[in-house]
Amino acid sequence: MGDYFSASALFLVLDQRLGAECLEWHPMTMTTNLTTSHPFFARHPDYASTAVLDALRAAEYARLDVQRQVYLDYTGGGLHAASQVQEHAQMLSDHVLGNPHSASPSSMEMTRRVEQARAAVLAYFHGTDQYTAIFTLNASGALKLVGESYPFGAQSTLLLTTDNHNSVNGIREFAAAKAAQVTYAPLTRPDLRINQPVMEGLLVQADSKGANLLAFPAQSNFSGVKHPLDLVAQAQGKGWHVLLDAAAFVPTNPLDLRTVAPDFVVMSFYKMFGYPTGVGCLLVKNETLAVLRRPWFGGGTVNFATVQGRMHVLSKGEAGFEDGTLNYLGIPAIEIGLRYLQKVGIDTIRRRVHCLTDWLITELLGLTHSNGRPMVRLYGPANMHMRGGTVTMNLYDPHAHLVDYRRIEELAGTARISLRTGCFCNPGAGETAEDLTEEDIQVGLQQIGSEINLTRFSQAMQSRGGKSAGAIRVSTGIASNLADIEQFLAFVSGFRDQTALTIGTVSFDIESCRVVRDGG
Ligand SMILES: Cc1ncc(COP(=O)(O)O)c(C=O)c1O
Repeated sequence: MGDYFSASALFLVLDQRLGAECLEWHPMTMTTNLTTSHPFFARHPDYASTAVLDALRAAEYARLDVQRQVYLDYTGGGLHAASQVQEHAQMLSDHVLGNPHSASPSSMEMTRRVEQARAAVLAYFHGTDQYTAIFTLNASGALKLVGESYPFGAQSTLLLTTDNHNSVNGIREFAAAKAAQVTYAPLTRPDLRINQPVMEGLLVQADSKGANLLAFPAQSNFSGVKHPLDLVAQAQGKGWHVLLDAAAFVPTNPLDLRTVAPDFVVMSFYKMFGYPTGVGCLLVKNETLAVLRRPWFGGGTVNFATVQGRMHVLSKGEAGFEDGTLNYLGIPAIEIGLRYLQKVGIDTIRRRVHCLTDWLITELLGLTHSNGRPMVRLYGPANMHMRGGTVTMNLYDPHAHLVDYRRIEELAGTARISLRTGCFCNPGAGETAEDLTEEDIQVGLQQIGSEINLTRFSQAMQSRGGKSAGAIRVSTGIASNLADIEQFLAFVSGFRDQTALTIGTVSFDIESCRVVRDGG
């Protein structure tokens, strides 16, 4: 079965899908260009206005086609342009750079570059006057800063949407430790959007005697749903602070803090432009920064600390939140990445992702087995209204039995396709998508006990009416093109009329979100 999904077999299915007139072969790289007779171009005439991205694909992301790789995990991590890395390497080679914030020439040069990057981040999001930018390790680090510093108390509420990433869900531990109420706002099925009437009802329940925090993703990393950003002002008008998780949104969408002004915004830069990893950001409205209370101090965060006197004075502004030594050599690469993104144009990226996602969804939903049964079950919106380029699904065999998503990931790997499977650290969206009830979950927990992991939990849910606790996710971004989508569609088409017997069983397991292969 592994051979069945080899690259050449994949191209054969691709040929069958499209017909020779839509394909131009490039034997050197074994890649394809799709000619304009492909029906996609008639459906999406505005795709032509994104042609600059094809030129960039060839110049900046050539490694994809040279290695015949299909990258469909932009929600997991963006891809960097070759020139970003070259410019950064040049900067590192040309300058003597030391640990920032002292008076030596090497340190002062580094401080200047870090502050220049900080200013570039604020300018990119139009938050220069109103916001403070705090560099963190990643979006999760930014979320943890909010969680530990927010003044939760017994009269507070933490209101979360059900499709928050686990790094947002984790804030509930800080809230609960301070006796705050934790409430989840449900999603609608099958579109996985915020249930507006319920949300409105919850928003009016804030106790004005406590500090109240609403946290939601601008775009779900599970379903690709874009939640309405006017919820920010709506909640603030009712006395809430708002945390907007922009990690999955900003790689393909503009965010202008002059028109949407959450109290907190979090992101990871590698999701926006691939490089560097290890740097994220918390943007905090200046007036809200004053309400945060850090529960500890460390190197770099204090103006003064004494051992004998047992006191410390926290640094003002972002310095009070940036623990220890920053990733100072990596931070200038953020300015390079932002400049690159601006040159390309975020609206161009958004338009391309929109066209490709529409095509992908339409074609996936049209795939059927010979007996007429659908091959794919999509989670989230089946159209492009308020949704981005993240598409989550499961595959079913001709007898309507769920195909193991881990086996799909394994076979995708043999076809050089990078996609992601599991629950994507977003358990609530998955639970809603599959209609897992609290009873389902309690039964699963009791059956498995403390050895629970996603695989065992999935198996338990399978035995409860064939429900799934995981899925397959593909996502498009800056370097995506139609050939990527067609190769994925050809890969999925290869499962037509296949059953568990012919598809085979997976040879790896996943524990704590890490792949564990047989024997080690
Ligand atoms: C919506 C969302 N929030 C938060 C995160 C956490 O990002 P990181 O792992 O970079 O901290 C992710 C990562 O996938 C995400 O998609």
